[in-house]
This record gives sequence, structure tokens and C-alpha cells, in this order.
Amino acid sequence: MFDIDAVRKDFPILAREIRGHPLVYLDSAASAQKPRAVLDVINNAYSREYANVHRGLHFLSGVATDKYEEVRCKIKSFINAAHDDEIIYTGGSTESINMVAYSWALPRLKEGDEILLSALEHHANIVPWHFLRERLGVQLVWIEPEQDGVLDPQRVADAMSPKTRLLALSHMSNVLGTRIDIKAIAALAREKGVPILADGSQSTVHGPIDVQDLGVDFFALTGHKLYGPTASGALYAKRRRLQEMRPFMGGGDMIREVTRSHVTYAEPPLMLEAGTPAIVQMIGLGAAIDYVSALGMENIARHEADIAAYAAAKLADEPWIIQQGTAPGKAAIFSFTLAGPAHPHDVSTILDQQGIAVRAGHHCAQPLMSFFRLTATCRASFGLYSTIQEVDRLLEGLHVCRDMLG
Ligand code: ALA
Repeated sequence: MFDIDAVRKDFPILAREIRGHPLVYLDSAASAQKPRAVLDVINNAYSREYANVHRGLHFLSGVATDKYEEVRCKIKSFINAAHDDEIIYTGGSTESINMVAYSWALPRLKEGDEILLSALEHHANIVPWHFLRERLGVQLVWIEPEQDGVLDPQRVADAMSPKTRLLALSHMSNVLGTRIDIKAIAALAREKGVPILADGSQSTVHGPIDVQDLGVDFFALTGHKLYGPTASGALYAKRRRLQEMRPFMGGGDMIREVTRSHVTYAEPPLMLEAGTPAIVQMIGLGAAIDYVSALGMENIARHEADIAAYAAAKLADEPWIIQQGTAPGKAAIFSFTLAGPAHPHDVSTILDQQGIAVRAGHHCAQPLMSFFRLTATCRASFGLYSTIQEVDRLLEGLHVCRDMLG
């Protein structure tokens, strides 16, 4: 059972009023709000159990290390990785993807090699590959979506060539909510022996994830969208790929031995986790995983599917609201513009006056904006605490925008 009233009470910020109106938070795809369970764990970690990890022999360092390390197992179970050591702690998806670029791709790729991307990607899964284009001369090969935002696996198959060295694809568009059929695409990649990285920043939040079933080599996830702290996240790297990775940042905690003339490294994943890590953030991410797991990712997915179906029907009823991306089965993330001269920034500002938080802009996905021949959209993104009533509030707010902006 998914008791939405009880769930909302778990998130203190949802009781706030903004500009005299009850908050309607429709920006969870940018960053989700945090339940009390996460806030309490963060507070406890700093106020009662804090010390550096992996270094001290004293009591508090032991407690902090245990609490910090047990999150690796939680993440492993949450995404059904085969082994704990396939989970590398990072500050979020951006760091995870950069890690694949620097630790795996940079030492292996050369001029003329090809990396396949889709036009749906977030900049976090574009810019690191541009770095390799600039530094190595690798080619970026772009796959276009259909007009409704679907990415047809056949287009991916058609774009692959003997020079393809990596597929780097979103598992869910942060702008459109489209679910990408990564399992089908990974099967195609496997046939050709090409590794695949899936950016799971959005997909991890909206339903169960099984990296073994997906068949991916790398999977990036971020904690702050998963109701956890900022600067928490992970990279899943299949053992075979893990063995192919080189150290990316040097420092404490990632070495076996350092002398004046040489250095040897710890085994991965520690080899890839230099310096004092985001200890409390990762412990907080563990609490967020416990929280969503207790609710049940299937239950969350069902609740959000109801919201998505209701919102899609309501938005479709208003021909002056132009939706970008209407793929079947998409998640509750809606991008739209209003017919006429209304700029998305103005729409967002007028909604904000009514206590409704949406994101407006290019959503760090400029290639997708250019596909739609736009520079910006408004985006309303829903989460596990969203309600049908909030969809109605959004529609009322948009009517006010239409009246004000013509
Ligand atoms: N990647 C986040 C978003 O889509 C920030 O809004």
C-alpha cells in the first residue's frame, strides 16, 4: 500500500508555504526533496558518529567506516550488481561519467574511434566525450530520437560501425521522461563486443533497476535525485571493465605503496576513490535507499504512473500547451512550451508567484533543444510525493500564465 498522505509527512519541506501558497514542488528531476529519515541520519552521522574513514584505529573511525562501507552493499542490492566491488563511490552521475571517460576511455581510445551518443543526452553525458574528441580526436556519432522522443534501438544498430568503441546513452531523458530501451540496445552492443554506459540519473528514481538484466557495462547514478544528499552517487562498473580502468585521481586511500620513485595502487574500487570521501553524504544516500526500498520501487513506479497518466491527459486537453516528447510509457517528467510569445522563463516566474516550482531553460540538453528547434522549455517533474491535486494546481497556474502572457 502506498499511503501518499503519510509519505508527504515524511518530507518536512512539503509543509512549507511559498509566496503565501502551499508549495507545489515540480522540480524533482533537478533535485528531489529529502525525507526526515535521511535528514536524521545525516544529523546523527555528524553529531554522534563522525570521524574519517579507512584511516583511524579509534572507535569513531571504525563506526564511521562501517556505516560508510555498508552503503556499497545497499547500492549493489538496489541496482542488483553482482559484486560489492563493482560499486565505485562518486559525487554523482557527472563524476561517474567523467570517471569512465578518464579512467577507462582515455587510456584505450585513439584518433578515429567512435563514441555513440543520442541527442537526448544530458550535458554530463556529452561534455566528457567532447573532451576526448578534443584530446584524442575521437568522433562523436549522434543518434536522433523520433519526434515523440522515443529512441529506436534500430537507429543505434544502424549507427554502429567497426570503429565504435563505446555507447554512452541515457536510460531516461531528463527533459522528456522517455524511457530508453537500454536492455535491447545493450544486447545489440554485446553482439558487436562494444561496451555500453547507461546514464541512470533519472531512471534510478522512478522504478527498479537491475544492471545485470540490462546488460550494461557501466551505469551512473546520482544520490540527490534519489531523495538523498547532494555530492553522493555511484558508478557501477562490471568486473571485467573495472579491471580495465586506470586510476583517475591520485591521493590518499587509493594506493598500496608510495615511494620516492614509484607508486602501486589499491584494488578497485578504492583505486578510484582518492582522498577523504563524502562520508556523511554516502551514509545519507544509504538512508535514502533504505527509505525508497521500504516504500517499494514498484509501488513508487505505480504511484508515479497514475500521476503521469493524469498529467498527460490534462495537458493534452489544452491545445495551447505544446508538449515536447509524448513517448508511450514515459515517466512523470513533462516538458512544454505555451503557444504564442510566452517565454518559458516568464511562465516559470508566474508559476513561482503561485508557489509552483518548475524548471525552465535548456535543462542541460542543448542538442535535444536544437532537435526540437527550441532554446528553452518549461519542465514539470514529479516524484514519489507528488499528487493528482498538484497536477491540477499546475494546470490552474498555467491558465493564469495564459491570461497574463496572452
Ligand atoms: N540534471 C538535472 C536536471 O535535469 C539538474 O534538471
